[in-house]
Amino acid sequence: MNPSDIFILAIESSCDDTAAAILHNRKALSNIVATQQIHQAYGGVVPELASRAHQQNIVPLVHRALDVANIDKKQLSAIAFTRGPGLLGSLLVGTSFAKSLSMGLKIPLIEVNHMEAHILSHFLETEGATVPAFPFLAMTISGGHTQIVQVRGHFEMEVLGETLDDAVGEAFDKSAKLLGLPYPGGPLIDACAQLGDPDRFTFPIPKVGGLDFSFSGLKTSILYFLQRETAADPGFVAREKNAICASIQKTIVEILMRKLKKAVLETGINRVALAGGVAANSGIRKALREAESEWGWTAHIPPFEYCTDNAAMIGIAGYLKYLDGRFTDLGTPAIARYTIGS
Ligand code: KG4
Ligand code: ZN
Repeated sequence: MNPSDIFILAIESSCDDTAAAILHNRKALSNIVATQQIHQAYGGVVPELASRAHQQNIVPLVHRALDVANIDKKQLSAIAFTRGPGLLGSLLVGTSFAKSLSMGLKIPLIEVNHMEAHILSHFLETEGATVPAFPFLAMTISGGHTQIVQVRGHFEMEVLGETLDDAVGEAFDKSAKLLGLPYPGGPLIDACAQLGDPDRFTFPIPKVGGLDFSFSGLKTSILYFLQRETAADPGFVAREKNAICASIQKTIVEILMRKLKKAVLETGINRVALAGGVAANSGIRKALREAESEWGWTAHIPPFEYCTDNAAMIGIAGYLKYLDGRFTDLGTPAIARYTIGS
């Protein structure tokens, strides 16, 4: 086989999405995600149910990824999998599957850090998108994480700041839950926010030092605000839903942008790349576009399918490691906590 033709099967199972992708070099030939609906009834991810759903999904999903890519498993060069961070039971499903298949096919295994992969999704071959130049700042905003990372090389990353409590996606989802919206509520807040006045209500911006974030205070202030208003007027939420969502979104975007601006000033790096599910949010996207025109930043925002949890991002991280010959031993365990750059 031509050594420049690298085919990677990538598997992601760190939380509640089971995902498989096939990459040909930097290009995703398939990128399939099975989102687990079962958690909706509980208003959040139930770890045990997530592991069981991964077990049911993984084999048909890998077959489908191969079918869509139109390649045979014998053509695969290596298998990349998410080692962590995430829910241990969920990670174990993907890790065990990847190990068995790599043994069966006698091809190398490559472990990937899920958070690094979110950032490396920018290196997937995408029509019309330019790859960020090093060094750049990545802001990873998802349901599990909120981080600002300085990226000096594909695997040379340093976390400059992160959340001390809730992740930004949780702030969206928990606010949505308080408003009676189903899980995950982030996209619903975004949709309602388009229709409401963002200046109608004011929520506090937390005072957190350095480049760290905190969102738990915001959640509490929204809870007290809603309790106060609905006590006086039970129809308040129904009537003001759009304005409440717009005001919450404006506050969250303000929290993110203040820290990002601080990071740009402190590092002198004005190339900024978004990653993670919350990068789909229209408010943060608009704020970054404005930062480009007002302050001369260069903003990189991946296509939606590479923002949320997906396996193509695991594939590109795997491909870059493959080029460096960085393979993984079969004895390598899944790990729930896995910091960037470790
Ligand atoms: O990266 P992701 O798919 O999974 C994690 O690794 O967490 O991110 C999911 C998070 C959820 O909290 C979801 O509500 C949020 O991303 N999200 C959004 C939007 N789309 C997804 N939050 C705000 N606005 C959106 N448009
Ligand atoms: Zn993620």
